[in-house]
Amino acid sequence: MTHHSLFLLLILSLISSFYLIQAQQPYARKITTDCGNTDNTTSALGYTCNGVNSTCQAYLIFRSKPPYNTVSSISGLLASNPSQLSQSNSVPADASFPTNTEVIVPVNCSCSGEYYQENSSYVVQNGDGPFVIANNTFQGLSTCQAIQNQNSVSTGNLFAGSRIIVPLRCACPTKNQFDGGVNYLLSYLIVTGDFVSTISTRFGVDTGSTLNANGLSMEDATIYPYTTLLVPLQNPPTNSQTRNPPPPPPSPSPPSSPPPSGKHKSWLYAVIGAVSAGTLVSIVSIVIFCVFFRKTKSKSDQSKSIAEPIVDSESFESYEKTTGLSVEESEEFLESLADIAKSLKVYAFEELQSATDDFSPKFWIKGSVYRGSINGSLAAIKKTNKDVAKEINLLNKISHFNLIKLSGVCFKEGYWYLVFEYAVNGSLTDWIYYSRSTTKILSWSERIQIALDVAMGLNYIHSFTNPPYVHKDIKTSNVLLDNDFRAKIANFSLAKSAEGQGSEFALTRHIVGTKGYMAPEYLENGYVSPKLDVYSFGILMLEIVTGEETAVATGAGKTLPEALAAILGDENPKEKLQDLIDPSLRGDYPLDLALVLARLIESCLRRDPASRPAMDDVVQILSNISSTSSDWEVQKKRVST
Ligand SMILES: *[C@@H]1O[C@H](CO)[C@@H](O)[C@H](O)[C@H]1NC(C)=O
Ligand SMILES: *[C@@H]1O[C@H](CO)[C@@H](O)[C@H](O)[C@H]1NC(C)=O
Ligand SMILES: *[C@@H]1O[C@H](CO)[C@@H](O)[C@H](O)[C@H]1NC(C)=O
Ligand SMILES: *[C@@H]1O[C@H](CO)[C@@H](O)[C@H](O)[C@H]1NC(C)=O
Ligand SMILES: *[C@@H]1O[C@H](CO)[C@@H](O)[C@H](O)[C@H]1NC(C)=O
Repeated sequence: MTHHSLFLLLILSLISSFYLIQAQQPYARKITTDCGNTDNTTSALGYTCNGVNSTCQAYLIFRSKPPYNTVSSISGLLASNPSQLSQSNSVPADASFPTNTEVIVPVNCSCSGEYYQENSSYVVQNGDGPFVIANNTFQGLSTCQAIQNQNSVSTGNLFAGSRIIVPLRCACPTKNQFDGGVNYLLSYLIVTGDFVSTISTRFGVDTGSTLNANGLSMEDATIYPYTTLLVPLQNPPTNSQTRNPPPPPPSPSPPSSPPPSGKHKSWLYAVIGAVSAGTLVSIVSIVIFCVFFRKTKSKSDQSKSIAEPIVDSESFESYEKTTGLSVEESEEFLESLADIAKSLKVYAFEELQSATDDFSPKFWIKGSVYRGSINGSLAAIKKTNKDVAKEINLLNKISHFNLIKLSGVCFKEGYWYLVFEYAVNGSLTDWIYYSRSTTKILSWSERIQIALDVAMGLNYIHSFTNPPYVHKDIKTSNVLLDNDFRAKIANFSLAKSAEGQGSEFALTRHIVGTKGYMAPEYLENGYVSPKLDVYSFGILMLEIVTGEETAVATGAGKTLPEALAAILGDENPKEKLQDLIDPSLRGDYPLDLALVLARLIESCLRRDPASRPAMDDVVQILSNISSTSSDWEVQKKRVST
């Protein structure tokens, strides 16, 4: 053996012994679903008795779910002490928890032979098997292997009504952890969208020490739902670290079940819009527009083949002269439109004139959009001579906090005027590119909230409208910010319904949109699918965290996405990532979360649309990053005071 290989061996053994000391317990990974597998190099049977003490106070996380949704039923199931449980969660002894609330369960953890566990006694129900008990009833706080091992049963001979012992997964700190200030181990139950870093940040723990506690590493930090992750804590967990169920989405679920009450009128209209009026509006508009545009058809056809069908104002005006469309006629049409779309108001042109001081430059926002004051409240008024029927049809169907709302229309002398909800802080473009913003720098948490808002808006049009829509033009100038810097998606003029495509993809000949934000499959082949928006959204997020525009190359001639890919491929992505993140944040962000976000962005920008996440996955991950960012914010304040 040469010196060289001896040296290598030495290093390797040093690393592995270091690893053994550091890796307190091996993570169970996916083995929990493989009941016949009792590989003792994983923690399938339980966490090894390797701690300083053979018994200790430990904590479990359980998510309330009827019938286990009260202090007494949860402490009964998990053999905890009810008064300690209510104390740990700061709730009264007779409290019940909303479904999906994270409940802190204090337990006495002790060594039973080889493994740490807490014995809970459980009466087998009809249809139970070891896996169902471990995974569904105990949510992963036990494993089928441990139940079988404990009760000497194999799958199949668990009889309803018999009482078994379910060993719950807990552990006591090792010498190493004790020396590092760890006093308790929390068995956290992983859900979809969790990352080791988001969980750690939430409990105020260094990600590295959580990884070590579970035998994971930065390179191999994949975790799975319904398994436990040990979180090493200095102090007992508190209910400020647990999570309440997410609030119900701002707009209710699919259009098939409209609530009967009159409270959700706008939703009801959306439903009507979706099933009947939508078609009616389209028919009415198509008929009218066919009649309107018959004369200009040949002209606009030329532009159609190269871009979106645009009726230029000249031809529109000339048409007006020839057909002599009267204001009365158009108003009749508008009334019929508003009749169908009950929430739409038809404005008299004079109203809009007085709202904008006759469209004076003072009220000009940008492009053909004006700010107006109607009955004391602000509105954005967009003047256009394009075919807005599709846009109105779509806007009529949607009602969501994160989508700019169309409140009314007006038609005058060949121009449509669309009256929109007004977003006081204007477009994201004005706030995000750091060289431009002077008044205020958006904080990390505000940026995450904005990204989450846009993701929720997109998820809504992808999944909750009928038919689903693709926005097709997501970019910073189409994201508007309200008074609280909450984001709303605007400009649905390019939005396309994915209806009647049969397959997931639609083909289009008209490539429209904004350079730099367009997905490769669209640029190259004209494929349209919701994954198009996912790509643009990836670019948008990249701009939000870097404060740079995608078109601008960063160093060595790399584009932003290339720079990101290079960083994530690096050995030390964290360090390099700091160079990419907006310098105006001055390092004031949780770097672990920034890395999670960077990975999310990278997945949105994948070349193959099928390997990009769907918008609802993105929402899930972002809401996780968002709430963890809030926790981080709170902890930061606590430390600084
Ligand atoms: C795992 O099981 C094998 C065989 O049963 C045994 O020889 C070995 O010592 C066990 N390892 C541990 C870490 O318990
Ligand atoms: C656990 O061990 C530590 C260190 O030996 C000791 O200080 C502590 O009191 C023990 N705790 C319990 C609950 O026995
Ligand atoms: C742990 O054991 C002690 C002593 O037996 C008991 O007083 C306490 O209630 C137990 N705690 C829990 C959470 O069960
Ligand atoms: C748990 O139950 C088993 C018997 O199934 C027993 O051997 C063990 O001592 C118990 N452990 C504790 C901590 O009570
Ligand atoms: C485990 O339980 C959860 C919650 O009840 C369930 O959604 C999931 O499908 C289960 N896992 C398997 C593999 O059955």
